[in-house]
Amino acid sequence: MTSLTTDRIIIIGAGLGALYAALKLAPRPVVMISPETLGEGASSAWAQGGVAAAMDAADSPENHARDTVGAGAGTVDPKVADLVTREARDYILDLTSLGTPFDRTEDGEYVLSREAAHSFARVVRVKGDQAGAEIMGALIEQVRETPSIQVLEGSMATALETTDGRVTGVAIQSADQARSGQIMLRGAAVLLAGGGSGGLYALTTNPPRIRGQVIGMAARAGAKISDAEFVQFHPTAMDVGEDPAPLATEALRGEGAILINKHGERFMTAIHPDAELAPRDVVARAIFAEVQAGNRPMLDTREVLGERIKDLFPSVAEYCARNGIDPATQPIPVAPAAHYHMGGIATDTSGRANLDGLWVCGEASSTGLHGANRLASNGLLEALVYARICAEDIAAHIPETTDAPLLNITYPEGGTAPDETAVAALRRVMTDHVGVVRHAKGLKQALRILAQLEQDHGDSPSFLNMCATATLIAAGALQREESRGAHERSDFPDTLPGPGTRSHTYLTEARAL
Ligand code: SIN
Repeated sequence: MTSLTTDRIIIIGAGLGALYAALKLAPRPVVMISPETLGEGASSAWAQGGVAAAMDAADSPENHARDTVGAGAGTVDPKVADLVTREARDYILDLTSLGTPFDRTEDGEYVLSREAAHSFARVVRVKGDQAGAEIMGALIEQVRETPSIQVLEGSMATALETTDGRVTGVAIQSADQARSGQIMLRGAAVLLAGGGSGGLYALTTNPPRIRGQVIGMAARAGAKISDAEFVQFHPTAMDVGEDPAPLATEALRGEGAILINKHGERFMTAIHPDAELAPRDVVARAIFAEVQAGNRPMLDTREVLGERIKDLFPSVAEYCARNGIDPATQPIPVAPAAHYHMGGIATDTSGRANLDGLWVCGEASSTGLHGANRLASNGLLEALVYARICAEDIAAHIPETTDAPLLNITYPEGGTAPDETAVAALRRVMTDHVGVVRHAKGLKQALRILAQLEQDHGDSPSFLNMCATATLIAAGALQREESRGAHERSDFPDTLPGPGTRSHTYLTEARAL
């Protein structure tokens, strides 16, 4: 494989963590590997709710940390919860200064939404339900104006090169996988910020390219993967036959929207004292049970929002309109869909993975913040906090350089794109057997099918990465013989006693299972 050496810091990904880290590293030269045009294809841009931060005078970072730990079902690291929530307000102010037009009251206060399992209204928002797109838009503008940042749009990473346990390079190729061979790009440091795994499931709210490739490539290089089985299913993805499924933000329930079934029954009141604002895993399971029973669960915004939904939640209103639903007069059909991978590449509080030269931030990482059930709108906050931490740690440990010419890359011919039939089979098996409710029999069957798919279609590097992550999730789920947070085992319905049974799954172990 042809190789190219650069003094630029290599950032894999183009979501919130990648952009913010690139800006915080400036003026250090950076090269970002982005499969699509900036702003497209990253989960961050699809986030509706916003960023959780204790902005209300009556609220505090301590309350926020307590809610984060409480939601996580015994597996959140309290030190990390403290670290991330402590300066949340400063990140909101920084995003504001970078041009994010957060919603404000007439007095200039930040408008705060309520989301499940938060004890306060604490989610800062933009234009109702467009926080992700607007924050990304502001940062992309900054990135475009920062000369130290080179963005390789239309490129993707497929593998990490290691030398004596240190990450020394990244294999990259054109995002048009069928027409591109690979180039080994070698640099002083690699920051993985390429998102989670939602697209490994047939039902997902994630953009189409987010299929666990980054976690898979790290695992294949020997990175430690933590709690892979903890996948969060968003309770209210719109069940309208679209792939990916459009989201009906949790903030709708924060405004008072209720969940009903086709019989008109409001089923959450019998399940949890907080009803629709119960922790996300509880609501997801309740909706899943209604789906399984053929009861057609729906989100009903009619009474509480009526026509106002069009102004307050324009994205949701638009998704409804394109599917022929008028939410002012009709309830919205919903079903749980894979939304956020809480497990991922294990990192320490400096954002470092167990391999030297490798840092990770955002959804690809497992920092210990989310545990088994991420608190809504903590994802974007974690990406910001760890992007800055990674940038500072990289700057402190990698010799500074100012002379890093722009990379001029021409990919060789060749390459194999993943077989779409195999990808569809993988996604189906994950939804059917590694989804909201799991059982040993189904998990073992999933592992068999995944192994066969990998064997039959291993000529595509990015398919191998998908298989690696899917296998880790299924193997972790089989290994964890309890139900905890988003991980529900019908054959092990109890939560094991104690503060939590954090499992750290390694790819080699996963393969052996
Ligand atoms: C939502 O708006 O419901 C999603 C927020 C999140 O997943 O953090």
